[in-house]
Amino acid sequence: MAELDGKVIIITGGASGIGKQAALQLSAKGASLVIADYNLDGANAVAAELEAAGGKAAAFKVDVSKGEEVKALVDFAVEKFGTLNGIFNNAGIGLVKPFLEMDPESYHRVIDVDQHSVYYGMYYGAKKMVELGATGTIVNTASIYGTAAAMGSFNYNAAKAAVVMMSKSGALELAEYGIRVVGVAPGFINTPILGNDEAMKSALGAQHMRGQLIQPEKVASVVTFLFSDGASAINGQTIPVDDGFLS
Ligand code: NAI
Repeated sequence: MAELDGKVIIITGGASGIGKQAALQLSAKGASLVIADYNLDGANAVAAELEAAGGKAAAFKVDVSKGEEVKALVDFAVEKFGTLNGIFNNAGIGLVKPFLEMDPESYHRVIDVDQHSVYYGMYYGAKKMVELGATGTIVNTASIYGTAAAMGSFNYNAAKAAVVMMSKSGALELAEYGIRVVGVAPGFINTPILGNDEAMKSALGAQHMRGQLIQPEKVASVVTFLFSDGASAINGQTIPVDDGFLS
């Protein structure tokens, strides 16, 4: 029997990058997954890939910045697989602008997608788990930029710093229900969110101790560990996966 057999986990942003790699690794450990993303075609493709490999997966279109859609996602997971044991609140965007051009729309969009989405996932996910009497784990994707300031990233810095604290605060509140809340803080990961400017990507990778971008599989393997029993004594913490950036 695989380690996560019978466990039902939602992955937001599961169509691409870190979320997709986490889906592949969690599925290989036996978890049943809902691949939730704004990009439904991408989510369908990941779910099909998992099923073709013998896993259990379903796709769901969601805009994580909208609470009612995240609530519907949680309901869908339970309808589809019968319970809920975890949610990986991972979907996110960047919108880089100098502070003096950080108009309210640019600020709020990133706060809505990167921060409020995590609240929605934690709130509706945990409520459902408690209602079902199910235990499990919530993993939130923060960033090194939840700790370190970056030029042009006032909105993203604010959102990801909030995510770090939400994992701590949520862990404190939900421990009595058998729900752990933890986070990952990726460094510069080689995914589509970084765009296509190869010179800029090399410059980002050069800031790591090993001088190169990190592959999304490396974040996914930490996320997969955090969902496992081996991580049962890790709670409230956000684990850097940054090749020494924050050291
Ligand atoms: P990605 O762009 O490959 O994946 C992000 C996924 O989120 C995409 O599939 C996209 O369709 C989905 N998404 C975006 N907005 C959404 C919305 N409103 N509703 C539902 N889905 C939505 O990027 P990556 O790198 O895999 O990003 C995953 C997380 O990792 C994000 O939270 C990001 O901020 C974080 N992160 C990424 C880093 C990097 O260097 N790639 C560094 C630190 C954190």
